Amino acid sequence: MRSSRVRGGGGGGGGGEAAAFLAALLCGLLLLLGAADAQGIRRPSAYKTLRGDAPLVIAQGGFSGVFPDSSQAAFAFALLASAPDTSVWCDVQLTKDGVGICLRDINMANCTNAATAYPAKKKKYVIDGVPKTGHFSLDFTYSEVQNTYLTQGFYSRTDRFDSIYNIFSVTDLQSYIKPPSVWLNVQHDAFYSQHGLNMRRYIVSILKSVSVKYISSPEIGFLKSISKRVRGRTKLVFRFPDNFLSDPSTNQTYSSLSKNLTFIKTIASGIMVPKSYIWPVTNDNYLLPPTPFVQDAHRAGLEIYASDFANDRIIPYNYSYDPLQEYLSFISDGGFSVDGVLTDYPITASEAIGCFANLNESKADHVFLCRETFNYFA
Ligand SMILES: *[C@@H]1O[C@H](CO)[C@@H](O)[C@H](O)[C@H]1NC(C)=O
Ligand SMILES: *[C@@H]1O[C@H](CO)[C@@H](O)[C@H](O)[C@H]1NC(C)=O
Ligand SMILES: *[C@@H]1O[C@H](CO)[C@@H](O)[C@H](O)[C@H]1NC(C)=O
Ligand SMILES: *[C@@H]1O[C@H](CO)[C@@H](O)[C@H](O)[C@H]1NC(C)=O
Ligand SMILES: *[C@@H]1O[C@H](CO)[C@@H](O)[C@H](O)[C@H]1NC(C)=O
Repeated sequence: MRSSRVRGGGGGGGGGEAAAFLAALLCGLLLLLGAADAQGIRRPSAYKTLRGDAPLVIAQGGFSGVFPDSSQAAFAFALLASAPDTSVWCDVQLTKDGVGICLRDINMANCTNAATAYPAKKKKYVIDGVPKTGHFSLDFTYSEVQNTYLTQGFYSRTDRFDSIYNIFSVTDLQSYIKPPSVWLNVQHDAFYSQHGLNMRRYIVSILKSVSVKYISSPEIGFLKSISKRVRGRTKLVFRFPDNFLSDPSTNQTYSSLSKNLTFIKTIASGIMVPKSYIWPVTNDNYLLPPTPFVQDAHRAGLEIYASDFANDRIIPYNYSYDPLQEYLSFISDGGFSVDGVLTDYPITASEAIGCFANLNESKADHVFLCRETFNYFA
């Protein structure tokens, strides 16, 4: 067991500078926020979520809008700067020796320095019907993975924290961060099983040591295979993707599955959809009226989570470049509420839910709610 996951300073120009910047950033935010309120938050009861609870903030790879996705800093900062019950999301990939690691992209070339550390491991695979060239975790043993470092996968975001943080295994996430709620996303079970790796066995092996509250996957076959082992403890969520046409585990199209929510309810307790399933967008980036997808899911007894929120994306012009307005349209202003939002910037989602939702309800004291969320001005 290593005692520290962060490479010591002096490893080339960037390290020390980045650490100092990080310290300053953390310090500033700590002053601003104070500690998160452990008792939870009194919120408007008017949420039209499945059970009337406030929507869940799900931090994709932690606070990945600032730090490299799934780095120790991204996970720690998400818990520091968001609603106290924020769930941390880990995209599980498997190594050659069957260890689950948190990495946003199945192609390590997009989110680590694997291409420079192991140039000879470059390979080509067909994943969900699409040929991809790059570096893939199934060609690395867990100990080889330890010699690579995380990098920021989005060019619009700072690279100051690149090549500082190791890759976390799922159990590292539990032991170093101790999040109140872990969300595991298994995007590519069919691909790993084609190559002789068993995702189900790995997940089952860590359930005792990691408090896994949610498991999501776009593969019905995977959710079915794991459902008996997690019953009661972990919620299963079927994820609708926006990039491929049918579920590789059943060959059913996602479009037909989206009209068969009562069937999905027999396997999962919720679904996750891209934002545009709920608020479609025209080609010239204006919002269309909302679909009845949230109400349909709730009618089928399913929770519904919306994905792809990030402050640095081009959002529909109707929001006037204000990401807060976008969250509000999903949690209160549309007359419905999703049960949670998956975001790279959990602080903004927490603000929308904790401070600004249901502002037209005169009874709720929004300044109080906001203070309770963040201890502003405390
Ligand atoms: C990932 O990397 C590949 C190869 O460098 C590139 O073609 C692809 O666009 C990248 N994908 C993303 C999402 O950045
Ligand atoms: C799905 O279709 C592909 C290609 O036709 C086939 O190889 C595969 O066995 C099918 N999978 C299932 C679960 O039916
Ligand atoms: C829903 O899916 C199930 C399982 O694949 C299938 O048997 C059923 O016919 C589908 N129902 C509709 C209305 O498509
Ligand atoms: C978004 O803005 C466009 C242009 O002003 C408008 O036509 C459209 O109705 C708006 N969409 C919604 C859902 O309000
Ligand atoms: C607040 O606005 C939403 C959406 O416009 C509406 O559904 C809700 O009934 C309003 N609440 C009150 C108390 O007026």
